Amino acid sequence: MAGANDVVIEAWNTVLFEKFCRFKHLLIDGLAPHSNEALARHPPRPGARVLDVGCGFGDSTRLIARQVLPGGAAVGVDCASNFIDAATQEAVQAGVGNASFLVADVQGDDLRGPYDAAFSRFGTMFFTLPGAAMRNIRKALKPGAGLTMIVWRRREENPWLHDAELCVKEIVPVVSHEDTDQVHCGPGPFSMAGPDMVSTMLRGVGYERITFERFDADICIGCDIAEAVEFAMALGPAGEIIRLAGDEGVRLKPEVIVALRKTLSRYVRADGVWAPSSTWFVSARNPL
Ligand SMILES: C[S@@+](CC[C@H](N)C(=O)[O-])C[C@H]1O[C@@H](n2cnc3c(N)ncnc32)[C@H](O)[C@@H]1O
Repeated sequence: MAGANDVVIEAWNTVLFEKFCRFKHLLIDGLAPHSNEALARHPPRPGARVLDVGCGFGDSTRLIARQVLPGGAAVGVDCASNFIDAATQEAVQAGVGNASFLVADVQGDDLRGPYDAAFSRFGTMFFTLPGAAMRNIRKALKPGAGLTMIVWRRREENPWLHDAELCVKEIVPVVSHEDTDQVHCGPGPFSMAGPDMVSTMLRGVGYERITFERFDADICIGCDIAEAVEFAMALGPAGEIIRLAGDEGVRLKPEVIVALRKTLSRYVRADGVWAPSSTWFVSARNPL
């Protein structure tokens, strides 16, 4: 399996890391309501050792670290060393001593278990080999330990990303991952939107007691329409279509800006641009 995921890892460590840094203020505030709610409904117990899969900047890892006090620890894992460096630095700055971080490809690397629980906020939808990754996570769990992962529901229920995607597809030719030499994010944010597929896959790699809970929240995609357009052109499926289109994507940007301004203007409020988002909290258990 060595090297099978190199393209995706490079994408997260370079172009996507840079974009996540640029829009960190929107992403962290926008994604936190989903993880705050999931961790309130499924809190890890004090004293537990918890793995945070695809931890990014590690804000959810720090929250878990606080929840498992006294005596517990949170371990954030990410395949991109740039995210892990940032997460490590931020945990030190925040004085969270029981959070640590490691660089690993969850699809095959040693995750340094055993853990009492695993959590993920939007860190499991980009696996090239989701079955291998979810099996590897389960193997790092103690018998009876639970997994809680947050994944986007279907794109139509997530206008904060999908409206821009539809708009950009009208203008920019879509280049598939197979037809480009550019790095890419992997299967993409909606790859775990289908409960039938996800529950079959999880059961197939040994999990039991699989449940899905829906959670909806509006997300601020910009302080104003100009920032919302910038955000849409950089991140999510719309941003990836523009980037993978290369020179053609650059050439068509003025046309895209006009169209996105029109599309996203319906979400403008007095306090910014807010669009609906919807997730599944997927719970599963490693059998006893
Ligand atoms: C959408 S980001 C989510 C980051 C963070 N959990 C959050 O909610 O802000 C997806 C994360 O998964 C990581 N990732 C993708 N594939 C991975 C893999 N095979 N192993 C470990 N991490 C992976 C990426 O590097 C990225 O940080």
